[in-house]
Amino acid sequence: MAERATWTTRIGFLVAAIGSAVGLGNIWQFPFKTGANGGSSFLVFYLIAVVAIGFPALLGEFVLGRRTRLNAIDAFGELGHRQWRIVGALGVATGFWILSYYNVVGGWVMRYIVGSATGAYFDAPAEYFGAVSAGPEAIAAQALFVLVVVGIVALGVEDGIEKATKVMVPSIVLLMLAMAVWAFTLEGGAAGYEYFLSPDLDTLLANAGTAIPFAVSQAFFTLSLGMAIMVTFSSYVGNDDNLAVDGGIIVGTNTLIGVLAGLVVFPVLFANGIDPATSGPSAIFIAMASGFAELPAGRLLGVVFFGVVLIAALSSAISLLEVSVSWATDNYDIGRVPLAAGLGVGLFVLGLPSAWDTAWLTWFDNLAYQLLLPVSVLFAMLFVGWVLGDEALTEIRQGMSGMDWFGPAWLWTVRIVVVAGVAVTLVLGLRTLFVEGAIVPPV
Ligand code: PFF
Repeated sequence: MAERATWTTRIGFLVAAIGSAVGLGNIWQFPFKTGANGGSSFLVFYLIAVVAIGFPALLGEFVLGRRTRLNAIDAFGELGHRQWRIVGALGVATGFWILSYYNVVGGWVMRYIVGSATGAYFDAPAEYFGAVSAGPEAIAAQALFVLVVVGIVALGVEDGIEKATKVMVPSIVLLMLAMAVWAFTLEGGAAGYEYFLSPDLDTLLANAGTAIPFAVSQAFFTLSLGMAIMVTFSSYVGNDDNLAVDGGIIVGTNTLIGVLAGLVVFPVLFANGIDPATSGPSAIFIAMASGFAELPAGRLLGVVFFGVVLIAALSSAISLLEVSVSWATDNYDIGRVPLAAGLGVGLFVLGLPSAWDTAWLTWFDNLAYQLLLPVSVLFAMLFVGWVLGDEALTEIRQGMSGMDWFGPAWLWTVRIVVVAGVAVTLVLGLRTLFVEGAIVPPV
């Protein structure tokens, strides 16, 4: 049996978890989901979802991983509940589904690095997106991205990515801050802040039905929950680590980056007369490309920005592939290289429709948000809260001296708030899928 990668320090764990959490979910997806679901009212639902549901659910996955010290699938089966392994398997499947189109967007990012260097998108940022985001070129870029992800996992050189992640997080924050300052100077951009930052109660209530499921699932997506990732990572964490503090650092960093992305994207969209409600997956690409086209040293800035986004995307994608590889190498006598290569081919094929046409990408994405993520997290939290119960409480208390109130408050939040919140999300998502017909593929 192969040895699993491990880290001995708390920083190693934090870096890996943040590397997984911070990715295209924050930079690409959060702004366009916000735009499509009512702007500032979505932001309110999202922040509530992160604090009240995402954070406790993240701790739930941590507890499970550290308690069992096993990969995500076997973690559910341990502790005398073998039939719950199916929930771990569901997490892995959900992650796979998501990674299939994540790779396509990763390919776009690679393409934009080249486009920045050559200045190819400078004259017509919107048309450029249309040209490179679908069809044979997108498939080629997707293949390249998958190849890099598989290569890193197969060779077991995640150390390099971990080092890159340490640079990536502060770089993203600095670059985003700089871009946000620039966006602030744009004529006509002020309407973007209004759209993003000033919720009013009527819009909030009017949007609740559609915004809630997206906001809750966005919290899961961006924190890498329901994909078996955080369970696996926390299986290597020390018993003297305070999981609540670690979780708080991860959630805080991750949320900051999403909000910063919004502070750049919305003013730029408004300044360019683009409607955020309909811009969809193109939002960040068109917004940033328009910026670089106008700025001095725009080419260099573009290469640096998309380069950093690429590292963020890679560290997330790798975290997911690593989970399946570590489960399989734990249980079977298969080498890392054939395993990673085989999984890469599977992912590439599953991602072909999304690369061919963004309508397919949206369909895959909707199914993940409305069905897979809520189902996966719901069952995982039912398990942690109601099946493990006191055992989970004992586990979270480890390393948490002086915070006696926290454990029970957390457990009851998982049992009631998280379970009820995700159940509502699921019902609303199923309504969109089946009653409104979103389940029908775009053929
Ligand atoms: N947390 C990641 C992000 O926000 O980009 C989500 C993710 C997607 C992780 C796909 C892993 C993955 F393969």
